[in-house]
Amino acid sequence: MIEEISIEDLNPEEFVKEKVDEISSIVGDGLSINALSGGVDSSVVTMLGHKALGDRLKTYFIENGLMRRDEPQQVVSLFADIGVHVELIDAREQFFNALKGITDPEEKREAITQTFYRDVFGRLVRESEAKFLLQGTILTDVDETVAGIKRQHNVFAQLGIDPEEAFGYQIIEPLVQIRKDGVRKVAEACGLPESVCNRMPFPGPALSARVIGEVTPEKIELVREATAITEEELADVDAFLKLAILHDDRVTGIRDGRRDFGLQIEIRCWDSVDARIAEPTRLPPETLDRLAGRIVTDVPGVVSVTYNVTPKPPSTMEPI
Ligand code: XMP
Repeated sequence: MIEEISIEDLNPEEFVKEKVDEISSIVGDGLSINALSGGVDSSVVTMLGHKALGDRLKTYFIENGLMRRDEPQQVVSLFADIGVHVELIDAREQFFNALKGITDPEEKREAITQTFYRDVFGRLVRESEAKFLLQGTILTDVDETVAGIKRQHNVFAQLGIDPEEAFGYQIIEPLVQIRKDGVRKVAEACGLPESVCNRMPFPGPALSARVIGEVTPEKIELVREATAITEEELADVDAFLKLAILHDDRVTGIRDGRRDFGLQIEIRCWDSVDARIAEPTRLPPETLDRLAGRIVTDVPGVVSVTYNVTPKPPSTMEPI
């Protein structure tokens, strides 16, 4: 049973000190690796790990081919500015091969998990001779996995899986007692820039969680374009999460006066504090009009754009 540290009880500076000590004592004089996605959770873990271990922590950005536009290069250069070297690992082929032919949501998540933890991290651990992986699992990830809602890509012990046995390394999870709102406070205490502290969440399975049906490089490119437009058009909207989904079903549309059995994009925008419950943001109609107009013009083959109006629960935020 994990003991939650509520937002009221969290002292971010104390938390940083405690976790740095904890990481130092677990890793001893050994080596650890961690994967940075640029999200607030993995960014905080990167900072805690570097404070504890210095260059005995090797930080990687895994380019899985499923990230948002320009994200890999932006994250590497932002951390270079902070003084943290991040090595970019090209694993695009591995992830697309693993996802080939899979349509079931939980099987997709399992393929992503195995590719990250067994194939990519397994190799990085062997090559670097590290014994530990530091990762930013938070309490909400554990809750939803244990409740059987969706298998978050980064939860093992609570499912009775021993990472040492399964993958050959131990996992250290310094953030597992807190939730997103707590992580943002700790991010500030670590001195991370505002853009990271308040960064929108992005799921471990990345854009593959936003393609219904089989994931292919072509479909990822479509959802990547729709995501970029959505984030641009909603940049001034203060919401917890903004996302675009590519549906598998086609619908009849009209293009240039002719029938076009085209693609559907769904937009979701969420108000939430800690991701446990959420409400769709009441976006102004003009904003929705502009968003839909750009998506049908700029994303090839799209003839329908819809906006989700269902709260979580019964919806979840990501569609997969
Ligand atoms: P859901 O879809 O479960 O999303 O309502 C709640 C929050 O969790 C994020 N999310 C994930 N984060 N690994 C993660 O690190 C995952 O597998 C994952 N799935 C969902 C989601 O973006 C939202 O912020």
